[in-house]
Amino acid sequence: MSGRIPEEFISDLLSRVDIVGVIDRRVTLKKSGREYSACCPFHSEKTPSFTVSPQKQFYHCFGCGAHGTAISFLMEFERLSFPEAIEELAREVGLSLPEAVTKPAFNEGAGPQADTEQLYALLERVNRFYQSALRKHPEKNKAVEYLKNRGISGQTAALYELGYAPSDWDSLNREFGANPQDRKNLINLGLCKHSNGNRPYDLMRDRIIFPIRNHRGKTIGFGARTLGDEQPKYLNSPESTVFKKGQELYGLHQIKSQRLSQQSILVVEGYMDVIALAQHGVPNATAALGTAFTEQHFSLLLRHTRNIVFCFDGDRAGRQAAWRAVENCLPRFRDGISLKFIFLPEGEDPDSYIRRFGQQGMEQLIDQSIPLSKFVIQHLMEQSPGSGMESKIEFVRLAKPIVQALEEESTFRALLIQELCKITGRKAEEFGANAPVSTQRKSKNYQGKRPTLSPVRSAITLLLHYPHLAHEDFIDLPPNSSEIAGVQLLSDIIDLVRTHPQITTAGILEHWRDTPTGNQLATLVKQDLHLGEQEVLAEFRGSLKKIGQQNLEGRMEELLNKSRYSSLNTEEKKELLQLLALNA
Ligand code: UTP
Ligand code: MN
Repeated sequence: MSGRIPEEFISDLLSRVDIVGVIDRRVTLKKSGREYSACCPFHSEKTPSFTVSPQKQFYHCFGCGAHGTAISFLMEFERLSFPEAIEELAREVGLSLPEAVTKPAFNEGAGPQADTEQLYALLERVNRFYQSALRKHPEKNKAVEYLKNRGISGQTAALYELGYAPSDWDSLNREFGANPQDRKNLINLGLCKHSNGNRPYDLMRDRIIFPIRNHRGKTIGFGARTLGDEQPKYLNSPESTVFKKGQELYGLHQIKSQRLSQQSILVVEGYMDVIALAQHGVPNATAALGTAFTEQHFSLLLRHTRNIVFCFDGDRAGRQAAWRAVENCLPRFRDGISLKFIFLPEGEDPDSYIRRFGQQGMEQLIDQSIPLSKFVIQHLMEQSPGSGMESKIEFVRLAKPIVQALEEESTFRALLIQELCKITGRKAEEFGANAPVSTQRKSKNYQGKRPTLSPVRSAITLLLHYPHLAHEDFIDLPPNSSEIAGVQLLSDIIDLVRTHPQITTAGILEHWRDTPTGNQLATLVKQDLHLGEQEVLAEFRGSLKKIGQQNLEGRMEELLNKSRYSSLNTEEKKELLQLLALNA
């Protein structure tokens, strides 16, 4: 699924979905009053603090703060991406996805007629073909022998679906080429090639095959290793519509399919590293597919774990690769995530290391891995050698963008800044920390009086809990240009509900998904209002009245101010008199 999902579809979907059913199928809910509750699936607890509101179509845990709509629940609980969660929900209520979503424009790499599903199906068949060749092909022995020599058992080979590509020139084409579309697709997928109009021949021949599955379990490509020392050592499927190297991790599928607890996930460099680690009792390893570890890789892993351990070579190239990974992770790094780094002794890779020192040896390395903060500081020191002023300046210069890439409010950022200050004897502001002014302003806010809601916030809160209020005909908001904070948002919500009369609280939240506004709205939705039907309407009416009043007062003040410095024109004078009379 790759087209953009129309907002209409999402709001329609959410008005048909019942969040209680969606969650109850996964976590048993108990009715308690108007809501449902359970022990929270997102943190461990003995007494239930996870509640689901059928009226708001929203869940919220008082313990850990997890909250959201049915879509968010599936994303969190099943580790799905946003479009995947939509797809899943649509399936559950029997709604078919809009054409634009299921049939994206198809012109990257593959021919114009190619169909993604067809490609997946073909890749699956090719995968099985290679696997069966490892078991049955007349030449299989040398491949089996090779794997045995590298210490791989039949069981591990089966788990990773290892295969063998026969040495014949065109075994794929002979197997699948009868169908013209498949023949074309083999070429589109980079598995076969035409030689000057002759019959297509296979590109991966006489090699061990490592099928690559994506995070949804579909075969998307292959890696192929020679049995000897020929170059190139590995051939890999080229990128295609279904295979994007920067987005998938080799071995993640096996971690998921074995339902490992995913306490932590190890990131290594090679296919053989992942497999050898699994062979020796460390089954939670993945590898970026011969590319740098990207931000997309990072967010993919975050769906499964908060603890990532990178394992690199100890040489310069290894440290460089590690730093690149850090740079790609920083923007998405949050408190609660742990990134650690292992640098292997010269000449070792995880495969050779675990074969030599065993599971225990590897676990020891993991225990001794370097935390992100320490690695960052080590890196900065290496990049600004010496002890003179120049080296200090360089240190600060290099540290700045790192600090700034981090989430502003995070404790990690604060502690890192503290550490950087200690090392350099410089002030926090030099690393791009907030100027003291803004901290002052903030703390003043926090000391503020009891948190009564402004009329606008109160109206927004009521509207979120009871979207049907938007249809009341007494609503008369000041113009959007109004100075009153939040009026624009209030009027946007009213418009949204009026154009989507079936919309639920959840639907409104989804409209602002992944925006600062969305986060603010979610905070308001979490509140318990304890209001009866009658009170709701009265409160809403009251809030709107206060907003009107605020607006009048604001305008009056504006006109009075103006009259002090310059003269008002006739229109303005008339307006001011009217306002004064109204306000009397
Ligand atoms: P390595 O050379 O470390 O491979 O490259 P490896 O996995 O340890 O392989 P063995 O132990 O020699 O069998 C790491 C990764 O870089 C990519 C592959 O993804 C490989 O797993 N690579 C390497 C290639 O794509 N092509 C190559 O020729 C070499
Ligand atoms: Mn190796």
